[in-house]
Amino acid sequence: MRVVSGIQPTGNLHLGNYLGAITRWVKMQDEGECLFFLADLHAITVHNEPAELRANVREMAAVLIASGIDPERSVLFNQARVPAHPELAWLLNGTARIGWLNRMTQFKEKSGKNREGSSVGLYAYPVLQAADVLLYQATHVPIGEDQKQHIELARDIAAKFNSDFGVELFTLPEPLIGASAARIMSLRDGASKMSKSDPSDMSRINLIDGDDLIVQKIRKAKTDPEPLPDSLDELGARPEARNLVGIYAGLAEREPAAVLQEFAGQGFGTFKPALAELAVETLRPIRARLEALRSDPAEIDRLLARGAARATALAEPTLKAAYEALGLSRG
Ligand code: TYM
Repeated sequence: MRVVSGIQPTGNLHLGNYLGAITRWVKMQDEGECLFFLADLHAITVHNEPAELRANVREMAAVLIASGIDPERSVLFNQARVPAHPELAWLLNGTARIGWLNRMTQFKEKSGKNREGSSVGLYAYPVLQAADVLLYQATHVPIGEDQKQHIELARDIAAKFNSDFGVELFTLPEPLIGASAARIMSLRDGASKMSKSDPSDMSRINLIDGDDLIVQKIRKAKTDPEPLPDSLDELGARPEARNLVGIYAGLAEREPAAVLQEFAGQGFGTFKPALAELAVETLRPIRARLEALRSDPAEIDRLLARGAARATALAEPTLKAAYEALGLSRG
């Protein structure tokens, strides 16, 4: 089992990233060989401030380590330190089809009405994401629901390359999506996902929010006046309630059904304080570890450079074979 996944270093991590991806990355360290990276080459496809990007890469690496990613056991690095990623992405551009990229919903969302003014990088981004995982023969890619389409594209690219060039080069990666936390929604609107780009900070819980702010955000989260039901089916038409139950389940590492068993018949006057306490207790130690790590940026840089050297070595055989399959002589 080889696990590969990435995250964009675009400022604050929120509970959606934490429950949708990171807690699951942490667990997978016990199950297989893991590579985790900061997708800084993806971050430059939209407007970027160089100094901010540099700081965010370090900050996110520290957050991952504070959350339980062990840089000894896992290969932790930033993409830009491993040129094999953009190299393979270019090779795969010959295989990826424009029609496939045209179907990517994330490009449509991110480009919005300004499609013509978007960068070529934003459009081609899913090919780089395919390279990210195919380069390491990833078997499993833990992600939130919103990234599933990109991993399916990686499978299509891998299958077409293998068949076009008559090779068994690329492994088809499986997207791994968590049951309860696949899509953590905004605290203000159960119909939109929790996101760094939401203009309201009250819509998300950031991993660096202090105890009081977490309590306040949960207290103000949108809900309905009904008590919690005893089955998940009955939450179907109550997206805000379902979201809070999902967050509780994710934080407590329990099934949403088990959470409902405990709180059935109780209103949000009881459930919200319990959720707030759980969130505060879970995030406080992460914040404390993060502060310690922040005081030594040189150590973070050293860890990332070492991770990149390990990743480069793991990527080399696949990159070499891809050049050969295409008939390219490499320097
Ligand atoms: P990114 O940086 O937007 O998000 C990182 C991870 O967090 C998950 N996630 C969520 N899960 C549940 N609920 C939410 N509200 C929520 N918001 C974010 C995402 O699904 C993701 O797993 N393109 C990727 C980064 C990437 C990557 C890769 C991932 C680059 N190359 C290769 C996997 C494999 C991205 O922008 O994720």
